Amino acid sequence: MIRGPTLRKDAWWAEPIPTVILLAGFVGYATWAAFQNANYFVDPYLSPLYSPCLAANCEHVTIRLFGSWWALSPALLILWIPGGFRATCYYYRKAYYRSILGAPPACAARDIRKRYTGERRFPLVLQNIHRYFFWLATPFLVFLWWDVVKAFSFPGQGFGMGLGTLILLGNAAFLSLYSFSCHSCRHVVGGHVDVFSKAPVRYRLWRTFTRLNERHGAIAWVSLVWVAWSDVYVRLVATDTIRDLRFF
Ligand code: FES
Repeated sequence: MIRGPTLRKDAWWAEPIPTVILLAGFVGYATWAAFQNANYFVDPYLSPLYSPCLAANCEHVTIRLFGSWWALSPALLILWIPGGFRATCYYYRKAYYRSILGAPPACAARDIRKRYTGERRFPLVLQNIHRYFFWLATPFLVFLWWDVVKAFSFPGQGFGMGLGTLILLGNAAFLSLYSFSCHSCRHVVGGHVDVFSKAPVRYRLWRTFTRLNERHGAIAWVSLVWVAWSDVYVRLVATDTIRDLRFF
């Protein structure tokens, strides 16, 4: 009988701590920013936490789907989609099952929760909704790239580029990599093909997306931090705390 939580002698507990800090920090910051309902747009930069901006009360309307009856923050209309996509992501599931639920806290370590029943029963069976969140979240990329295009056009000056342009460009690029490295995306591309020799194009695509998929964990963290950083930058410029660095 093994009396301790594990026979491992290495620092297996070291990974869950930064995971909890990063996840809790991001969720806390994004919730705070979503309820601010201010300082998310400074021409030509729109924070990704508010994009696409769909209500009449937006500081910068992308598409006016909701009229003036919507009085709350426009971020609340959209954030449930990327939030649900992240929350049900295979990689984040591993991260928070281990770090927050302790089920298990690490490989070859005993579960902290005694009654973990896996993902075949309610409520964790609902994680299967991830494949649908992939389809809901992927169109957001079109809007984020459109925000990048607009971030090259400064009011009264025309074409230009500032640090904010580069930050929004990085945000759209990292979020695109995050979506395209998703396990559901890999499955859509070729995961359900039974005989690869009969579908050579699908097979080549599947191999490309598989290489991206192998880096999904790292991309997940970088894109998460970059989204928050993009909002912070827009917010700092919008409140005149800093000036946008203009290259030309
Ligand atoms: S598996 Fe992570 S986004 Fe789909």
